[in-house]
Amino acid sequence: MKVLICPDRDAAIERAKGIIIDHVNAKPKAVLGLATGGTMVPLYERLVSAYQAGAVSFAGVTTFNLDEYIGIPPEHPCSYHTYMRDILFQHIDIDQSRTHLPHGMPDDVDAEGERYEAEITAAGGISLQLLGIGKNGHIGFNEPSSSLASRTRVKTLTETTRNANRQYFPEGEETPRFALTMGIGTILDARECLLIATGADKAQAVADMIEGAVSAACPASALQFHRHATIITDQEAASQLRLTDYYQHVHPDGI
Ligand code: F6R
Repeated sequence: MKVLICPDRDAAIERAKGIIIDHVNAKPKAVLGLATGGTMVPLYERLVSAYQAGAVSFAGVTTFNLDEYIGIPPEHPCSYHTYMRDILFQHIDIDQSRTHLPHGMPDDVDAEGERYEAEITAAGGISLQLLGIGKNGHIGFNEPSSSLASRTRVKTLTETTRNANRQYFPEGEETPRFALTMGIGTILDARECLLIATGADKAQAVADMIEGAVSAACPASALQFHRHATIITDQEAASQLRLTDYYQHVHPDGI
């Protein structure tokens, strides 16, 4: 794992932005795996600014999002379809027909998982998978105890995750209980993984992911098996790591 500890959240997001832009500029037909959540918002805003400044084009890029809530139509204001359209897709030159998210209201959820996997394969696999991390160590919506070999399927969300996501739903509206998510095996198939963690509330999960035992108790720890995984954190999210001096020695200030 390449561990890049940046001085603060801004620097972490800027570092991630640079990696994505370099990847797309080197591979104009890149297949990006995308994540949602609060961590990604400033990153997508910066990618939009970079596109507007002419630093990158997404015209040849294909995308696959990690997950979508079950029982929520794409046009719902809190769906991940809406999040991606509002924050990223409608502001860049990507061909909308090459943007993919799992359907949240499929007739057959098992078939939907298989269809999504087949689409990823048909696109040639994911070249760069972007990831956030849950306070409980989840990646995508692979909650603790998820199989490390799992593929796209339905997961029941933990109460921790539902509580974390409640802020995005109107008061009184129930937060979804289930999501369709790429599996850990699907994520590990990406040729490169880039996980971003910022804030003190991610510190324990970050330590478990990087320095803990590989275990379904911390799904993100499966990234220890990945040959090309980069973890970008700010100082707060790195605060529980034991080998900080080493990471800083190898990549001072996350550079
Ligand atoms: C969402 C996803 C999740 C989030 C994680 C962190 O697509 O994949 O794993 O990345 O829950 O969310 P934030 O950034 O809101 O803390």
